[in-house]
Order: sequence, then structure tokens, then C-alpha cells
Amino acid sequence: MKNTFGQSVAVTLFGESHGTAIGAVLDGLAPGIPVDEGFITAQLDLRRPFGKISTARQEADPFQIVSGCFEGKTTGTPLTILIPNGDTNSRDYSKTKDLARPGHADLTAQLKYHGYQDFRGGGHFSGRITAALVAAGAIAIQALARKGITLRSHIRACAGVEDRAFAGDEAGLQADFEALRGAKFPVLNEQAAEQMKARIVEAKEQNDSVGGILETAICGLPAGVGEPWFDTLESLLAHMLFAVPAVKGVEFGDGFGLAGMRGSAANDPYRVENGRYITTSNHNGGINGGISNGMPIVFRCAFKPTPSIFREQETVDMAKQENATLALEGRHDPVIVHRAAVVVDSVTALVLCDALALRYGTDWLAE
Ligand SMILES: Cc1cc2nc3c(=O)[nH]c(=O)nc-3n(C[C@H](O)[C@H](O)[C@H](O)COP(=O)(O)O)c2cc1C
Repeated sequence: MKNTFGQSVAVTLFGESHGTAIGAVLDGLAPGIPVDEGFITAQLDLRRPFGKISTARQEADPFQIVSGCFEGKTTGTPLTILIPNGDTNSRDYSKTKDLARPGHADLTAQLKYHGYQDFRGGGHFSGRITAALVAAGAIAIQALARKGITLRSHIRACAGVEDRAFAGDEAGLQADFEALRGAKFPVLNEQAAEQMKARIVEAKEQNDSVGGILETAICGLPAGVGEPWFDTLESLLAHMLFAVPAVKGVEFGDGFGLAGMRGSAANDPYRVENGRYITTSNHNGGINGGISNGMPIVFRCAFKPTPSIFREQETVDMAKQENATLALEGRHDPVIVHRAAVVVDSVTALVLCDALALRYGTDWLAE
């Protein structure tokens, strides 16, 4: 199904940026999972734009759970979350409606949907739709936390400035997670954060945009999750991570760096510790043969610079089928990566709920 992901716990996304509402349907959740609306609100707030480094579009995201939840717990039937759209300014888009924004989905949407697509604000391709993923993901994140599985993303790099990497061990990771709690610009090194913000503002003042890399870690995932060939844990995660708009690369463990290493450096030696198998390094990011090995899962996503920039660009007029130039109006993020951190956490949690339900059964998450 085109707008649905997941085999046991499935999420369906719907809505357009300037339509009445956006939302998600979560199907296959165990009955009896507590749903904390305050936590959903807090997660949505992490995605909300702020300050000079985000779009000026302000959305209150007053979500409504219209099915699948009764007296604060999941019923086990499809759970639907609706988020009405508020702060839309569609006039900005009508002027340039036929001019495809380079790097955005306007041209591919036109080619696929033959002009019937809602073009306003990027329509169904807008980053706005990720709010619904965050709301659904918040339920998944909480269900996982009750099972001792925690996860978080930080900005590993942005506009050429690097944050330090996540700690390699579980205790250090938990401390890093705690340091990032509630951060709308999740960076571990404060100096690096200030430098990143300065470069974002600089690019914005030059009518340009910048990209970045998110690093995500998962702690407490049991060994044995994932399938050996087509539904490897890497491929399930990558499938969802590439659904996040503007993600153009995903790597696990040392990823592309492994290609330049020798086996003697890339292998993670095994040990037994307190009756449990561990590895003394984690170059493979906690996955071997497509299956979790019990170590923290670590991966990174590369986000391209925001495609909508306020410089004149060469493009095509899709109505006239002729070359044109585009001078954009509207409100856009000069960088995506900080707002996307909670989106990546959310899609990761949704994948894990699905993979865990496949391994242990639907009810395991609520037990
Ligand atoms: C949280 C979030 C916010 C985004 N904000 C914008 C934006 O303000 N302007 C824009 O052009 N693209 C924005 N994007 C990216 C576009 O949606 C994306 O580049 C576009 O749909 C094309 O998809 P692709 O880059 O994956 O090919 C945002 C993405 C996310 C995840």
C-alpha cells in the first residue's frame, strides 16, 4: 500500500500541507498501551519551528485522537490522529504554481499525478506531514520505553560544523540521551551548537540553505530482532528513514567508513559479560546478518539543504512546458535537520514496534 508502512504494526499517513488536516492511522497496536497526550504534545513541540533558524509558519498542532483510544489506553483497533492545519498562506504558492522548485517534489508530483495534486505548500510532499508521524511515533516511543528500549537523535553535523559522536557504551549513551531531553536543537557540544546556528543564519541571510547529519542510537533492543534477507533490521529502518523528506543517505555503524578499514579494525570482538554476549566495539552498529546483536543500534541520516531557497533559479514552467526562472515567495526552513530529529526518532520507534510485534507477537508491547 502506497501510504502505509509496517506488517504487524502499520502506520498510514494522509493529508496535505494546506488542506483541512493531516493525520496518521496506527493499526495493529496491542490493546492496553497507555497513551499520554501530554507526551504527544511535547514531542510535537520538538518539531515545531522556532527562532531565526526555522520557517515563520507557526502551527499549534492541536491534535485529536478520534479512534482506537479509550480511557487513556489503546483499544487495539485502528488509532487515528487528526491534526488540523492552521497557519496556511496559500497565495504565496499560487503565483509560482507552475514553476517547479528545483530539489523539491513539484515536478515529480506533476508527472505522477498529472496536475491533480494539491500543490499548495508542497501538498502531500510537505515536511508538514511529518507532524503526523511524530504524533503516531510518540505512542510508539512510550510503548518502547516501558519495555526498557530508549532512543534519541542528535545533530552530528550541520553546515560543516561537527558535534561529538554519541558515547559508545550504554551508560554513556543514557547520559547523552538525558542531556538531549527536551532540546529543540539537539547537539551535545554547546559550542558546536552555537557555531551551527551562526552558519544557518549566515546562509539564510544569503537567501540560501544548509544540510546536516543526524546520528541516532537505540538502547535496550533485545538481540534477535530482524530477518536475515529482505526484512533485515537495516532495511526496515532504512525504508522508513528514506520516507522522511530530504533524507538522501543512511548508514549503520561506521557505514561507508567501514569500506576503508581492515577486517582487523572493523570486526567487533565478542565477550561474555554477566551471562550476556557483548562486543567490545560497535563498528557494525549493533546489527549482524540483518539481526540485532543486543548492542546499541547506531545509524546516521544525511539531510540535504532545504530545496526552497530565495535565490533566482533556473526551472521549467510546467503549464507552458518552457524554460523559466523562479523567484520564490513563502516561508521556508533554512535548515531541516534540527526539526527532523524528532521525526527520525518517531519513525525509528514505529519500525521497532513493528519488528518487535513480528518477533514476540502483538500483545508483547502491552504486557
Ligand atoms: C521537518 C521538515 C521540514 C521541512 N521544511 C521544508 C521547507 O520549509 N521548505 C522546503 O522546501 N522543504 C522542506 N522540507 C523538505 C521537503 O519536504 C523535501 O525536500 C521534498 O519533499 C522533496 O523530497 P526529497 O528531498 O526527499 O527528494 C522539510 C522536510 C522536513 C522533514
